[in-house]
Amino acid sequence: MNTWSPTSWRNFKIKQQPIYKDRKLLENVEKELSGFPPLVFAGEARNLKKRLGEVVEGKAFLLHGGDCAESFSQFSAVNIRDMFKVIMQMSVILTFAAGFPVVKVGRLAGQFAKPRSSDTETIDGVEYLSYRGDMINGMEADSALREANPKRMLKAYNQSAATLNLLRAFAQGGFADLNEVHKWNLEFVKNNSFGQKYEELAERITEALAFIEACGIHAENTQQLKETEFYTSHEALLLNYEEQLCREDSLSGTYYDCSAHMLWIGERTRGLDEAHIEFLRGVDNPLGVKIGPNATKDEIMGICDLLNPKNEAGRLNLIVRMGAGVIEEKLPNILKAVLPEGRKILWSIDPMHGNTIKANSGYKTRAFNKILDEVKSFFEIHKAENSYAGGVHLEMTGQNVTECIGGSQEITESSLGNNYNTQCDPRLNALQAIELAFLIADILKKRKNN
Ligand code: PEP
Ligand code: CO
Repeated sequence: MNTWSPTSWRNFKIKQQPIYKDRKLLENVEKELSGFPPLVFAGEARNLKKRLGEVVEGKAFLLHGGDCAESFSQFSAVNIRDMFKVIMQMSVILTFAAGFPVVKVGRLAGQFAKPRSSDTETIDGVEYLSYRGDMINGMEADSALREANPKRMLKAYNQSAATLNLLRAFAQGGFADLNEVHKWNLEFVKNNSFGQKYEELAERITEALAFIEACGIHAENTQQLKETEFYTSHEALLLNYEEQLCREDSLSGTYYDCSAHMLWIGERTRGLDEAHIEFLRGVDNPLGVKIGPNATKDEIMGICDLLNPKNEAGRLNLIVRMGAGVIEEKLPNILKAVLPEGRKILWSIDPMHGNTIKANSGYKTRAFNKILDEVKSFFEIHKAENSYAGGVHLEMTGQNVTECIGGSQEITESSLGNNYNTQCDPRLNALQAIELAFLIADILKKRKNN
């Protein structure tokens, strides 16, 4: 195998990249980025790997979620706070049911680059370059803004840094204190039956906290009650950016991509002889790879060989995204073929990307029931194959959007236009996310009691 370096991906074929017309400007931006401080510390990525290793061993569960694509224009403290609140709520719901730790990984603080099914798109009869995420080009129907602009990488870096700063403050500054469990319920969620179900759960937690406090264990002497671990991740799609955030860790002597704790490769860019696998095989972060319905045993074994040659638990997360109705057909055979090889794999389910449909109104949407069906099938298939279903990967938001149909608010195709706000794919709103968490909690509880 060729020697790896942070730039060796440049010798490989690569998909889903923008064309930068101004090469000089691109080089200048790359140089500037390479001098910026890392966004995460290698030790944190190592901690996450350890946590994910616990998931592989069946001692924890992974909750991975956030925006499909973050946006420059919707960047605000309120949006970050509300996303954090929903992830905290879901985590409490799952932890309470499963009786073991939930590892929280956000799809945020860097999720700015998107693969697209076509290089161009037609809007009102005019053909434009496809929107590829705010770190690459603008979403507006404007030919000049659709050109890839390297300077957007600097803005994405700065927004990621500010987002991460706030997340760290929330996680460690008192907001994540379990005594605050009631305050994570969002206003629009409170009056709904699942919001009330959450309030009841929060009440039980508060009672339990009062009991253990009476026994002498409280937030002042027990860090776990007042702080939480919260990790970040994004699709490592734009390698011009990722390469510049790649740093040699002085403690271990290995390289980390310090743009996030965890990075993943999408379904469309996971070719074994392509640049994305080449780049990520050389960094020591925990990694994800999306696995669609056409994945083969050989591809999965190739991914394991290249990305996890030491067979470490917690290094590799395969994120299955096949679609309800398809997963039942495809995943059992994959597991039957791959499991006997003894590779340490964290299997999680992304029930979003295989269930995207176009509504008659033209909106891209996903049905809550299909999402739930794929999650349920994922658990059942793993159980039948004697394997551990380790986590979920969701596109969601803390806002009261109308992007996915169904759920307890019974969002219909005709109401999608009320608050359709996504930069890219349709997300679960906070209420749908909480409802899904309660349904997954039931599955985890049954599994625990079996
Ligand atoms: C995504 O996670 O937003 C995405 C594009 O997924 P996939 O690579 O699975 O299509
Ligand atoms: Co998406």
